[in-house]
Amino acid sequence: MAHFLVTGGAGFIGSHLCDALLESGHRVTVLDDLSTGRRRNIAHLSEQPRFRFVEGSILDGELVERLVAEVDGVYHLAAVVGVKHVLDDPLRGMLVNLNGTERVLEAALARGCRVLIASSSEVFGKSVAVPFDEEDDTVLGPTRVPRWSYALAKLLDEHLALAYHRQRGLLTVVVRYFNAYGPRLDPRGYGSVVAHFLGQALTGQPLTVYGDGRQTRAFTFVGDTVRGTMAAMETEAAVGKVFNIGNGQAWTIEALAELIRRLVPQAGPIRHIPFERVYGPDFEETRHRAPATERAERLLGFRAEVPLEEGLRRTIPWFKEHLDELI
Ligand SMILES: NC(=O)c1ccc[n+]([C@@H]2O[C@H](COP(=O)([O-])OP(=O)(O)OC[C@H]3O[C@@H](n4cnc5c(N)ncnc54)[C@H](O)[C@@H]3O)[C@@H](O)[C@H]2O)c1
Repeated sequence: MAHFLVTGGAGFIGSHLCDALLESGHRVTVLDDLSTGRRRNIAHLSEQPRFRFVEGSILDGELVERLVAEVDGVYHLAAVVGVKHVLDDPLRGMLVNLNGTERVLEAALARGCRVLIASSSEVFGKSVAVPFDEEDDTVLGPTRVPRWSYALAKLLDEHLALAYHRQRGLLTVVVRYFNAYGPRLDPRGYGSVVAHFLGQALTGQPLTVYGDGRQTRAFTFVGDTVRGTMAAMETEAAVGKVFNIGNGQAWTIEALAELIRRLVPQAGPIRHIPFERVYGPDFEETRHRAPATERAERLLGFRAEVPLEEGLRRTIPWFKEHLDELI
């Protein structure tokens, strides 16, 4: 049994990670400021003696150091997440995502424990080399466009993690998530297209597809995301490396909308809206995005297994239960 700190553990992916770590017999401490995470995501764990929740920020260096001093490893997932939140407040996004990660890495260095850093498929930016290999170039737009600040902060987090490994010997590993979805995905939809469509479908509204709908994404069921995350933390050969953690199967947004319409009979028709109307004139879209999965398969023995239709069937009941939050 090991003791892990999960930053952002009251969030969507983090709370599922806590479930899986506890099921594996580990102890878990969560540090979360509940900015987008929710107590409800971890309420079922409150009676579990191997679980502890601490409300606080990763920007609080003393607190981070105190908590990291007690654990054997850190899963660092806390971040200002999603295009919408980053567009609303790019400054906060950059400061939390950069300074918070630096504080976590410094504390782990003092403790001498392993750290996993959650990064994002956003870092590939406008690259057209689909599927994206971990060694591929990243292609970000100009600094005038706030959207790219999220990708850039995550890239700097990756550089920090790799430099702490090379220069200080800290055991770090980076995972890049590709569109995770599943129960507890925030129905207020901070930019997740799955949450956005399910909310619309279950309330009988039209499904609003931004742009022509022919842009593609790889959707990863959260159970797979968590399995890949734990494999990256547990594999010796993963140290000092970056891994795509995602489902290799890409879907067009239009096809996703059609599938959800088939699974949710009360869903309205599909409506197309121009990107600019939603995100303003400065928005730059990413056309295609899917992970190359060979490195994770070879080194971690990880491959996403849950097909989109099956994953949506497992997700829809949770969204139905939380319909009140969608309206
Ligand atoms: N969901 C995805 O598809 C996806 C894709 C790419 C990357 N990621 C990354 O995965 C991680 C988890 O994302 P998620 O989808 O679960 O989002 P989420 O918003 O549910 O989780 C983020 C958590 O971090 C917490 N947090 C934010 N700022 C904090 C701070 N200053 N101190 C302490 N806690 C703070 C939030 O309250 C929340 O619980 C993030 O690092 C995100 O960038 C997610």
